[in-house]
Amino acid sequence: MRQPMVAGNWKLNGSRESVAALIAGISAGISAVSKSEVVVCPAFVHLADVQQAIGDSGIKLGAQNAADQESGAFTGEIATSMLQEFGCEYVILGHSERRNIYGEDDALVAKKFAAVQAAGLKPILCVGELLEEREAGATETVVATQLDAIINSAGVTALTNAVIAYEPVWAIGTGKTASPEQAQEVHAFIRQKLAVLDGSVAEKVQILYGGSMNAGNAADLLSMADIDGGLIGGASLQAESFLAICQAAG
Ligand code: 13P
Repeated sequence: MRQPMVAGNWKLNGSRESVAALIAGISAGISAVSKSEVVVCPAFVHLADVQQAIGDSGIKLGAQNAADQESGAFTGEIATSMLQEFGCEYVILGHSERRNIYGEDDALVAKKFAAVQAAGLKPILCVGELLEEREAGATETVVATQLDAIINSAGVTALTNAVIAYEPVWAIGTGKTASPEQAQEVHAFIRQKLAVLDGSVAEKVQILYGGSMNAGNAADLLSMADIDGGLIGGASLQAESFLAICQAAG
């Protein structure tokens, strides 16, 4: 059985004060509501505060990105070893905002994936199609290409130590959630694609849904066979709604 997982991607949000309040609220409510693996991914500069605040609550820490390089003249980058020093266990990679706003391509995401795993951290690999790609019937091709970039460089078994997040770009931050059936269709496609290469990897890998998941729609999405959890943006910024999603995940 795959353990459900709920990860909050706080994106470019928060001050030291608001982040302290948010993590205090989540920590206070978490043990009562969730048997899931719960991860929070603050901005880099908030990692130290959040690491201290989560203490032994069982909440895990993730980063929103990492460099493909270990050290050196790479201005503005953050290395995986630095993330480890602050207690990170997960790193979100290939988020559509990194791909579409900052031009990260499949090759760079694959290099980052290798760097993150080499450091003993777990990538949360994001894949997903744009609205025009869905409308052109290209969803599966787009998702397959994004996955193949990783499988062809790291090998399919590398996905045993990773999490996949299906995030249709048209559903992110728009309030337009994919229906449970639409999401399940793509999740099943991803798992079947992996099963052709390695049945055990396909069975084990957690596939999260992301895109306007909230307290109201989480239970229906999470009831689908191949949806193992959520990667939550907006609704992870309030302890109450995040905890409600954790509770829905089990
Ligand atoms: P929203 O939940 O705000 O749509 O964001 C989803 C997301 O991008 C999580 O990584």
